[in-house]
Amino acid sequence: MKQGKLLYAGKAKSVYRTDEKDHLIVEFRDDITAFDGGKKDTLKKKGRYNAEVSAFFFSYLGEHGVKTHFVRMLDENRMVVENLSMIPLEVIVRNIAAGSIVRNYPFKEKTPLRPPVIVIDYKDDARHDPMLNDDLILALKICTPAELKKIKNTALKVNDLLKDLLARQGITLVDFKLEFGRGKKGIWVGDEISMDSMRLWDATTGESLDKDVYRFDKGDVMETYDRVLQRIVKTSSAAGKKRTTAARKGSGD
Ligand code: ADP
Ligand code: CDP
Repeated sequence: MKQGKLLYAGKAKSVYRTDEKDHLIVEFRDDITAFDGGKKDTLKKKGRYNAEVSAFFFSYLGEHGVKTHFVRMLDENRMVVENLSMIPLEVIVRNIAAGSIVRNYPFKEKTPLRPPVIVIDYKDDARHDPMLNDDLILALKICTPAELKKIKNTALKVNDLLKDLLARQGITLVDFKLEFGRGKKGIWVGDEISMDSMRLWDATTGESLDKDVYRFDKGDVMETYDRVLQRIVKTSSAAGKKRTTAARKGSGD
């Protein structure tokens, strides 16, 4: 596959055309930003940590019936994806109160949210991603009622899958953000699912294992991302292989 013209350079990733109309290349750069781009840095290996974790989560979701744009990795930083027409929504699922809902609403940090709370923001940096509601989404014609229902149901399914997967590694999924896009075969999960787009807490110590380490100068963020990658990808893959081998042995394959 050949990388073509740069289509878009965002805050942390660049999107390129390819010689295949239906596929794009997303390059995970080493840039990290927070507070609407108010804090910015370039940190060695950051792109590949997020690319590897995203690829792992996308594959896992695909195996469990959730359609995502992930096709394959080209190298450590570059991912081949389905070309989607992105829907300008940031779909956030929250299991525990933290971040903006604690700042903006009378929730005490760490309050469990059961059932999980879905918050949808309008993806528009110039407007600082204002929160939407269903009526606004429909009035703005961002999507149809059926699409909105599909988006919310998918977000909740992703939450169930990732919450359980992470819990097995001693990590609490506090909240995360998804983006969706329209492809030839319906609405699929796009963009990334990584330490940049999730809030993860160590289930035992409560330590932050995500971009909050960078936002609030809680320590060495790349050391944290490296550790999370080891815990999530390497340990889950090893456990997965063990399960498969055990199942094979059991079935006499
Ligand atoms: P931002 O736009 O927030 O600065 P990024 O730096 O992550 O974010 O840029 C990546 C861009 O690529 C985002 O605008 C995202 O919506 C877009 N994108 C992600 N996945 C796809 C896809 N499959 N097809 C087309 N665009 C995509
Ligand atoms: O981080 P902040 O407190 O400003 O925002 P939030 O609304 O509490 O974010 C909720 C979750 O969505 C966090 O895991 C963020 O990392 C993620 N998010 C994101 O990835 N991109 C955004 N533009 C906004 C939130």
